[in-house]
Amino acid sequence: MNLHTKDYEIILENQMNLKDYLKDLDLNHVFVITDENVFEFYHEKIKSIDESPIILTPGEQSKDIRTYELVVEKLIEAGIQRDDTLIAFGGGVVGDFTGFIASTILRGIKYIQIPTSLLSMVDSSIGGKTALNLPQGKNLVGTYYKPELVLIDLSFLETLPHMEYKSGYVEMIKIGAVLDVDFFNQIKHKEKVNLEDISYAIQLKQHLVEIDYKDNDQRKLLNFGHTFGHAIEMESEYKVPHGIAVAYGILYEISIAVDLGLCPMKTYDEFHQLFMKKNIIEDDLNHKEKLKTLIHHDKKISKDEINLIYLEKIGLGKIVKVKLVDL
Ligand SMILES: NC(=O)c1ccc[n+]([C@@H]2O[C@H](COP(=O)([O-])OP(=O)(O)OC[C@H]3O[C@@H](n4cnc5c(N)ncnc54)[C@H](O)[C@@H]3O)[C@@H](O)[C@H]2O)c1
Repeated sequence: MNLHTKDYEIILENQMNLKDYLKDLDLNHVFVITDENVFEFYHEKIKSIDESPIILTPGEQSKDIRTYELVVEKLIEAGIQRDDTLIAFGGGVVGDFTGFIASTILRGIKYIQIPTSLLSMVDSSIGGKTALNLPQGKNLVGTYYKPELVLIDLSFLETLPHMEYKSGYVEMIKIGAVLDVDFFNQIKHKEKVNLEDISYAIQLKQHLVEIDYKDNDQRKLLNFGHTFGHAIEMESEYKVPHGIAVAYGILYEISIAVDLGLCPMKTYDEFHQLFMKKNIIEDDLNHKEKLKTLIHHDKKISKDEINLIYLEKIGLGKIVKVKLVDL
């Protein structure tokens, strides 16, 4: 299945022959960046593309400036040139990190996304946002830099840990929640999503990326649950997977919207039941007060207010500025 976007192609398949696809592109030298978990499962595939890949420690901690410096130095020592290509072979951490390197090394070189987690297939590999974290917060350093190509092979999901699968599923629910109630209803009862679901989620996201690449307006809808989700991730020292933190963030944002009279209580109940039934969350929002404190200390929040994403109804997300004192 091929999705043509304005700038690059997204190819989706089950059991893709990656090596053949890459061969057809007639690339100069390629450098693969992956992580230890992905390398453990897919070392043969990876080594068939790059004999000496760069292998990161898995997890959010690798998306930092120190690792960036080490990897860039390694690539320069290995003789990387402007017409070479980086390949992000892994989840969203590898994708964001590799994209950031591609956008900055030698003032920018090509890169290809090969996402291996559900979250990276439906969300982080699409749309050209790259990022590193700082001790002060997530994704505080980053660029907008589009990949040349995104190759999605569904069979990678066979080895993805269950919790990480749920994490990606939450991002799909999020996309449906703010943009398309039919899609939301279509996936909410599913145990496993299929190629068509993934392709549809990508198309919904891609539409927003094309009308608002730099996140000035409608693309912000995709941040639903993220302001609080990021705070939860940081508070847990990144032990809570991204999408799971977003699920709590979604509930918290809906509860604020309910308090402000922007959203009916039944919407909160529907998401709460869904996340409980799927074992995505364990409890209610008993850490609400703690979250408020964290948000007050978030360096990204300017002028003492946040953009609250709320659901006028499921499938129709809206953005409103809310003063922190009103939370
Ligand atoms: N750039 C964007 O637009 C965007 C959007 C959403 C999220 N993100 C970022 O994405 C990151 C989260 O991505 P993620 O959930 O993929 O996290 P991740 O990259 O940490 O992957 C999750 C875990 O799954 C493992 N894994 C990945 N693929 C596997 C496979 N096929 N088999 C076995 N194990 C596998 C990884 O090693 C890791 O331990 C966060 O840093 C978030 O900020 C970016």
